[in-house]
Order: sequence, then structure tokens, then C-alpha cells
Amino acid sequence: MLTPKDLWQALSEDLSCRESKGLFRSPLESQALGPTRILRGGKQLLHFSSNDYLGMAWHPQVREEYQEIASQNGVGSGASPLILGASAPYFRLVRTLAQWHGCESAVVFPSGYAANLGTITALAGPEDLILSDALNHACLIDACRLSKATVKIYPHRDVEALGSLLASGRNQFRMAFVITDTVFSMDGDIAPIEQIDSLCREFDAIGIADEAHAGGVIGKHGTGVLDQAQVDRSHWIKTGTLSKAIGCVGGYVTGSNILCQTLHHRARSFIYSTALPPALLAAASRSIEIIQHMDLQRHSLVELSSYLRRELEQAGYRTASDTTPIVPIYVRDPHEAIDLSARLLKEGIYVPAIRPPTVPPEGCLLRVSLNATHTIDDCQKLLEAL
Ligand SMILES: Cc1ncc(COP(=O)(O)O)c(C=O)c1O
Repeated sequence: MLTPKDLWQALSEDLSCRESKGLFRSPLESQALGPTRILRGGKQLLHFSSNDYLGMAWHPQVREEYQEIASQNGVGSGASPLILGASAPYFRLVRTLAQWHGCESAVVFPSGYAANLGTITALAGPEDLILSDALNHACLIDACRLSKATVKIYPHRDVEALGSLLASGRNQFRMAFVITDTVFSMDGDIAPIEQIDSLCREFDAIGIADEAHAGGVIGKHGTGVLDQAQVDRSHWIKTGTLSKAIGCVGGYVTGSNILCQTLHHRARSFIYSTALPPALLAAASRSIEIIQHMDLQRHSLVELSSYLRRELEQAGYRTASDTTPIVPIYVRDPHEAIDLSARLLKEGIYVPAIRPPTVPPEGCLLRVSLNATHTIDDCQKLLEAL
């Protein structure tokens, strides 16, 4: 039995242990000066650490929309969507998301985390099987645990292993769900959606695709990996976030009216959480309207990412060969990650060190996150500093 005093002592020892292993973390104050520059400790830094992949958080029309609606509607939303919080901008955003993704409807959540948590726990229960990629985002992992379904983890992007799990276990369960990030958040690689889609069709499973890092970035009009792969949407559920390429805050699910109405009744993170403020919802709609026409910026982001990966490899760094804006630089261990990040900081560049538990112990990396407003010159500065 622990007394409260013992608990604080144990927690303090745990923090010291994390520090000695190079795993201590704390938020550091910084002020954004634009999509690629921050002020930290009185010093201006070039940074590669934001998920605002198209620079939309700084887009003049998005900021204008936010300011105008905030001045008309106030700052907060007052209550959850089913009580008071479903404002006119809420319904505008639902229509905008549905039109963008070519489906009947959408549900907007307070965050991408809440969208995944609410959706998966609304659909999967103790009689079901969930197959989940080993490198899925924490919110998918938490949702699986909370659902009380039988959860089996398949090795990262391993469709053969996924097929074997479905073949051996599918018929013992009511429903089977295959859950995957489409662009993986730390390594920036893309899920083998076509093969997962074939398996879902073969075994009557539903795919749940978290397009958090793909929305706005991948495919024509930025609708993501599922659309690029042209899968039949009837056995897929697509979740996303407003917090990355859209440049705002919030999360969403798109799909049929039946799916969305079910979430209104069952998704606890939607029902029991205050709605997003109208100004933010309006800004998100404006951002999506603009993003659909940014294929040129999406193309230059691919070129920038390919350039940086090529140059990193030539300089002897280990990276991955995809074309997403998330460019990993793999290192040996947490200490090397912290050290490299600290040395870049001295050169006026911030790239975050990613360590366990965000990645497995052997997967420590510096996560270079590009956005469409970074230039070749910015990348060259990073390469010279490295
Ligand atoms: C793959 C993935 N899904 C979901 C989320 C959560 O989104 P949000 O930050 O909007 O809660 C994130 C990011 O943090 C993510 O990387």
C-alpha cells in the first residue's frame, strides 16, 4: 500500500529515472513568428517542427474569417453540440467536409484524438476483433483499449501478417476492424491501403483510416490516401484532424448519414465535450475551401521532401524514401537524438528529438516536418548545420 507521500516520492524517482535515460520532456515556451520561424529564449529559430503543412494557420483569408466570426459570435461555444454548440459555422463545416470528401455527412469533434476515440469506441465492442498496425498513433491505441474488443497488433505495414490474423481469427468475432494511420506520424511512411482494402473485402472487415497527416497533403484536392488509392468507401471509415494541414484545431469523421447519426448517439467524446468555437469552425471551412485548390503547393512539398531525403542520404544520414512532408532522420538512441537536436539549436535551427514512448526504443529519430512555405534555402541551412 502506498501513502500519498509514497506516491509523490515514487513519481519523483520515475522522473529522475527518465532524465538519466534521456527520456525527460517538458513544454518549452516559444512564440510563432510565421509558418517556419519561432522565437525561443529571445532567439529567432528556423524550425521544422509544425504539422501546419500548407501554412494555413497564417493564411490571410483564414485569419480574417476567424477574426470576423469571433467578433460576431464571441470566443467560446457554450456547450456540447447536442445541447447548444452546433452553430451555423458547425453545419457549414459539416457540409464543407462532406463535399470535400465526397460523402453524405461528417461529424466534428474537439480534436483528432477525440474523433478517433469516439468513433472506434462507438463501433467496436467486446464481441469484435480489431487488428491494429504496430506504429499506429497513441489515440488509436487508446481507442482500441477502451473499446474492450479483442485487439491484435500486426507488425508495421505487414499485410501478410494481417492476412494471416484475419484468416485464423475473423470467423470467431461479430465484426472485424482493421485500423491504420494512412501517413504514419513519426516515420512519414504510407500504409499499404490497396492491399489492406483487398483483405477487408475478402474477410468482410471494416477499415478505419486515420488520415490526420494525409488530409490536405496527399492526393488530388488533398483528400488523402484512401481517395488516391480509389478504394470503395462502403467498407472504410475515414477520420481526420483540423489541427494539421488545415491549420486550425479539431477533428472529424466523414461517411454516410447512418455512420454520422450513430456517432451522434454513441461517440462519447462528441456527446460529452464542449463544441469547438464558431470562429474556429468557420476558419476551418475557409481553410478547406482554399486547400482544395492547392495542388501546386502539394506538388512543391513532394519535391522539397524528395530533395531533402536525397541530400540527407548523400550526407550519410539514415532516412526513409517516401515523399510525405515528414522526413525522419534516424539515430541510435535517445541521447544521440537530444544531442543532435541541441547542436542544431546552437545553429539557429529547431528539429524535435523523438524518443520512446512516442517511438519504439530502436526507432529514435529527429522528425523534420516540412511545410509548403519552407524553401530550398531553408533545407540547405538545415543540411549545412547537420
Ligand atoms: C495520426 C494522428 N492521429 C491523430 C492525431 C490527433 O490529432 P489532434 O492533434 O487533432 O488531436 C495525431 C496528432 O497529434 C496524429 O498524428
